[in-house]
Amino acid sequence: MSWKASEKLMETIKHYSNFPATGVSLRQMVQFGEKPSTGTLFRASQFLSEELPIRLAHRVQELQELPDGLNEMPSIGRVRDWYAQSFEELVTLPRPKLSSEVKERLLRPARRHGHKEANLLSKATQNPSVIKGQYKSEPEHNGNGNGNGNGKRGTTLTRRYFTAADDGLDWPPELSMYNTQFAETLEKIKRRHDSVVTTVAQGILEWKRKRQRMQIDHNIQAFLDRFYMSRIGIRMLIGQHIALTDQKSRSDPNYVGIICTKTNVRELAQEAIENARFVCEDHYGLFDAPKIQLVCNPGISFMYVPGHLSHMLFETLKNSLRAVVERHGPEKEEFPVTKVIVAEGKEDITIKISDEGGGIPRSAIPLVWTYMYTTVDQTPSLDPDFNKSDFKAPMAGFGYGLPISRLYARYFGGDLKLISMEGYGTDVYLHLNRLSSSSEPLQ
Ligand SMILES: Nc1ncnc2c1ncn2[C@@H]1O[C@H](COP(=O)(O)OP(=O)(O)OP(=O)(O)O)[C@@H](O)[C@H]1O
Ligand SMILES: [Mg+2]
Repeated sequence: MSWKASEKLMETIKHYSNFPATGVSLRQMVQFGEKPSTGTLFRASQFLSEELPIRLAHRVQELQELPDGLNEMPSIGRVRDWYAQSFEELVTLPRPKLSSEVKERLLRPARRHGHKEANLLSKATQNPSVIKGQYKSEPEHNGNGNGNGNGKRGTTLTRRYFTAADDGLDWPPELSMYNTQFAETLEKIKRRHDSVVTTVAQGILEWKRKRQRMQIDHNIQAFLDRFYMSRIGIRMLIGQHIALTDQKSRSDPNYVGIICTKTNVRELAQEAIENARFVCEDHYGLFDAPKIQLVCNPGISFMYVPGHLSHMLFETLKNSLRAVVERHGPEKEEFPVTKVIVAEGKEDITIKISDEGGGIPRSAIPLVWTYMYTTVDQTPSLDPDFNKSDFKAPMAGFGYGLPISRLYARYFGGDLKLISMEGYGTDVYLHLNRLSSSSEPLQ
């Protein structure tokens, strides 16, 4: 089953990679509405059928141009082919022929909430976690046709995330057929890319071995940040679209796709604590893992993707538990308690995780953010099929926990910081931006 990109496909990809990606904010995704009509979904499919190929094309180009022979590593080649194949599937999916009447209806503003702004989404704002100029595509520049040659200004509205087309009338069956097909294509693509993180990591290992590199340099680190950040964005858009398409089967009023408008921090934190303690007991053969105390007003909730928050909490808690156990020895009867404190502000919800695991030497602080930096002696084997979707690996050992969690935090305008007191313990601050208007960081 070997798929190979044709020369023509690679040319098309190159062409697409000249267009800037369009950033979407959490709030915009929610404004789309939880029960989109066939017409709305169709418009969203149309948006994604342009946006996703652009984002995929950027990654193919970047993988191909990686420096220092990294682009020639077999695992990097595999990942590049997945991106190219998914690109091809999206651009070759046949679109229905629409009558001019239907086309017009699709463009017509919805009159959902009784005012005409219903279809004009609130503007995405600058992501506070992105340094100006860090990424090529920024919200202000979107949609003005950078690089598409027509140089027209003021066409910002041509490739908006979507506009809701919902006039209450029936839509021709071709539209819902296309919607179904499109969602099926997305599901296939999502599955294909499940093990991208592990496979890229594998590629880095191949390169380290071949080139006798001990550590990854600034360039590779920056590439991995961009690459994994872009993957979070692509999967967010895909996951959201799939969930909205089969919304009929779901009825939780607090959910819009995979976004929960009332994500309860306390409940999620409690669950992450239990999971991390369980993994810890399992790993060290403990009867009772070190205790974790949660200080959180039960009413704190905000708009977020619960899966992202669970991931960040689980990763940081695992780190704390490991530090505590290794500092005090698994035979210890009673461990110092790790504290999780949740604060609710107007701008941010901040979660502090304080442990007494001995901290990190100051010289090693920059390293904890580099991929593959770990103080575990034996990195568990990197089986690409192992735990498909993410690095929810046992206890520790890949050196991906912190850097990936920070990307998740930054993706929606938050951040992850770490302050250590060597000889005592570590405080991790997870800032979650609750304004939800900031654009995705785009590359
Ligand atoms: N709370 C903490 N206390 C002390 N050291 C820590 C703490 N959190 C992280 N570290 C150090 O930072 C390193 C990197 O952490 P990170 O979570 O990125 O990777 P890991 O835990 O080694 O592996 P994994 O990818 O499985 O999480 C750890 O190996 C550990 O040395
Ligand atoms: Mg970890």
